[in-house]
Amino acid sequence: MNYLFIMYPWERVKPLNDTTLRLIHETVDRGYTVAMTVGANLTIRDSTPMAFCKVFEKGKVPKSIPAFYKAAKFKEQMLPLAGFDVIFMRANPPLDSIVLNFLDSVKNDVFIINSIEGLREANNKLYTAAFHDPKKEIIPVTHVSKNKEYLQRVIKESNADKMIMKPLNGYGGSGVIVLEKGADKNISSLLDFYINTGKDDSSYVIVQEYVEGAEKGDIRVLMLHGEPIGAMRRVPAEGDARSNLSAGGTYEKHVLNKAEKRLCKVVGSKLVKDGLFFVGLDLIEGKLIEVNVLSPGGITYINKLNKTNLQKKVIDYCDDSVKSKETSSVRRGELRKTVKDA
Ligand SMILES: Nc1ncnc2c1ncn2[C@@H]1O[C@H](COP(=O)(O)OP(=O)(O)O)[C@@H](O)[C@H]1O
Ligand SMILES: [Mg+2]
Repeated sequence: MNYLFIMYPWERVKPLNDTTLRLIHETVDRGYTVAMTVGANLTIRDSTPMAFCKVFEKGKVPKSIPAFYKAAKFKEQMLPLAGFDVIFMRANPPLDSIVLNFLDSVKNDVFIINSIEGLREANNKLYTAAFHDPKKEIIPVTHVSKNKEYLQRVIKESNADKMIMKPLNGYGGSGVIVLEKGADKNISSLLDFYINTGKDDSSYVIVQEYVEGAEKGDIRVLMLHGEPIGAMRRVPAEGDARSNLSAGGTYEKHVLNKAEKRLCKVVGSKLVKDGLFFVGLDLIEGKLIEVNVLSPGGITYINKLNKTNLQKKVIDYCDDSVKSKETSSVRRGELRKTVKDA
């Protein structure tokens, strides 16, 4: 198998807890040809989409992942994208739509995870905000707009004591704040700030009902082909409303309860339909807060808590997807021959 990881620069990988590094380690350990690149290194040479890659040297692979990171050696090479069996998109948000344009030309030949269509559709929080939820069971009441007066009215009219404001394109908890009822004096200024953060253009803002119970943390669920494969509770740091580990949260063991499993089932079938095969869900009190499709993390912590090896499951899944496509293409070749010879 040939794997390409499109990700953040290798130097920025944090070996102790990085999820992408665990996926890479698994593929290199299997003896595959594995390369990594960053979005900016995609190129077209004579009408063939290529990437300037770092190709991992094959040989003995240390069991310890930090040791693997330290010892990794590469060959720098320009390789055609269509020569890979799997392209794993592990770049951090925000999504670079040009990268997807490069991948469009190879999407019928290469197994891309997550699919281009899925990444296009779900690359920001609008995917969750617009989740079809007529009975109001799946997501908290959510409004998205650039219209300051509208958002002010929504906040004023809400019965909730607290609301959450966050940028549409944020991640890692950045810009997530709690609006307390009675702090109305700050709201106009905050909305101005959030809407006008872009240099040239204005930005969309999310205003959402605060889900009571969030103080105890949120639940990160890793979903593979629509099924939960692991979960953990992330608990906010003292005095913070955000459970993200990058915002100082800590992690604890969590077993999904009935309501959470039901939610995963509903969301899972939509994910598969949308080509979103490896996804991180954030849940609070059985409500869906976020669907993370660009480089979801958490494998290292969940492995530690549950003594699992989730990277093996994910790579098995990618391998199987490639093999089943190959099998059906061989079969089609045979059938075409039968017809041709008729
Ligand atoms: N509606 C909400 N109610 C309570 N807490 C929330 C709500 N939305 C977000 N949070 C807290 O903020 C964190 C980050 O929000 P999230 O929407 O997942 O954005 P990010 O992309 O930054 O992770 C969540 O994990 C949760 O702890
Ligand atoms: Mg989140």
